[in-house]
Amino acid sequence: MSQTQIVSTEPATGNELWRGEVGDLDEAIERANNARRNWGQQPVGQRMELVRRFANEVRKQAEPFAELIARETGKPLWEARTEVEAVIGKVEISISAYADRTGQKKLNSALQGTAALRHKPHGIMAVLGPYNFPAHLPNGHIVPALIAGNCVIFKPSEKTPAVGEFLVKCFHDAKVPQGVIQCLQGGADIGKALVEHWMINGVLFTGSARAGIAINRKLASDPGKILALEMGGNNPIVMLDTPKIEDAAVTIIQSAFTTAGQRCTAARRLVVVDSMFDQIVPAVKKLAERLIVGEPFADPQPFMGTVIDNQTADLLSESFVALMSRGGKPIMHMKRPDENLPFLSPSIIDATDMDDRPDIELFGPLLQVIRVADFNEAIMEANNTRYGLSASLIGGGPQDFELFWNESRAGIVNWNRPTNGASSAAPFGGIGLSGNHRPAAYYAADYCAYPVASTEMEQPRASLGIGLRDQ
Ligand code: NAD
Ligand code: SIN
Repeated sequence: MSQTQIVSTEPATGNELWRGEVGDLDEAIERANNARRNWGQQPVGQRMELVRRFANEVRKQAEPFAELIARETGKPLWEARTEVEAVIGKVEISISAYADRTGQKKLNSALQGTAALRHKPHGIMAVLGPYNFPAHLPNGHIVPALIAGNCVIFKPSEKTPAVGEFLVKCFHDAKVPQGVIQCLQGGADIGKALVEHWMINGVLFTGSARAGIAINRKLASDPGKILALEMGGNNPIVMLDTPKIEDAAVTIIQSAFTTAGQRCTAARRLVVVDSMFDQIVPAVKKLAERLIVGEPFADPQPFMGTVIDNQTADLLSESFVALMSRGGKPIMHMKRPDENLPFLSPSIIDATDMDDRPDIELFGPLLQVIRVADFNEAIMEANNTRYGLSASLIGGGPQDFELFWNESRAGIVNWNRPTNGASSAAPFGGIGLSGNHRPAAYYAADYCAYPVASTEMEQPRASLGIGLRDQ
């Protein structure tokens, strides 16, 4: 039987935060369909004006918004504030991206009329969001989709319904019409029904590879629906020679443990050349031991908060034990101080001698270390995954980075920078199990509109120059 109610609890306390009914899909579709023509046909400048007003609304409500994100996800308040800043920043970036990537062009030609290139909205888009950035990531699809003239039905993660509702309310407070952007609450069932609905013209998904693949299969016989998949990663951070051990350790810690490891771009595998192993591994461990894990509003602020829920914490703890049972050697055990709450300590395991390293995304504070002989082996190990979201090289010189960049199979390839913290002003997406070549962020404009070529004349003017009998 499908769910009728959604309940969200604060991971850090276990208290109920939000409760509501599962939304009515047919009603949402009808409202979007009624709003579609007016919204899509008004001048783009007016739509831009309204999304700018949305940014102002979010600015006005920034602190309660950040507090809600912190409460519903368990991430520290300082980090929730950066998420709200990203929501605001998305608006101007998306306005530039629309003009840059999907603008209009006219090529005048007296004889053949005017050749024009313009872009049209797809119609009604479904946006499916994850829980780790419950505002910033769906917003990264919603804002460009609205600017391009689409109506949006947004289904937030069932783990973060309150943040989803708050985000959509900010659009309505900014006077974006109710039918143009709607929040449809529900779990995977309602997500499936939304994706398959015949009046949905596009699906913009951010979440796990498992769900993304299921959606891709469902839409295989429906090629007319545009589908953008932003999925997970099993991201490598490769450590070559460098004298800057402290900086390298900080970069590795940021990559693996920010947001309690719940970032799609988090480093899951630290691949270390033999010559650096005895320096970098103790330095990373020493720093990881100092990281404060605590509740979102603690003073002083913690480095990381909870993972999303107890079920996820159970799964991660079991995964750590499973890695050990396959030959992984613990460097830092995963600890869970309170069995009833999903606080996990950062954990590190030496996976070098494991019989069979599973190529899966372990979405939490768990870093696997793999020792390799040299840079060539490191590159092979970094690419030893079906995913391809982000990869970083620490140390080495420009030629090493050039080789790493050329050989890495990933959508984000960094040097002496963390694997995460991607910029909204650049394209953001991966290959393999991480995405379907429709990157988001700056390139989101591309999948929110389609190009239409026209040749145009104010009056019909035509003649057949060849193949006619005399009159
Ligand atoms: P999830 O896949 O479980 O759920 C994402 C959304 O899809 C939710 O709204 C969910 O209800 C819906 N859903 C689930 N199954 C569905 C189906 N069969 N049909 C339609 N909708 C369905 O993801 P999550 O656990 O909420 O988020 C964590 C995952 O998201 C991680 O794998 C992480 O790497 C990934 N992620 C990717 C990016 C990116 O941009 N590449 C960014 C953030 C998170
Ligand atoms: C994410 O989308 O999960 C993380 C983005 C980033 O930090 O690069």
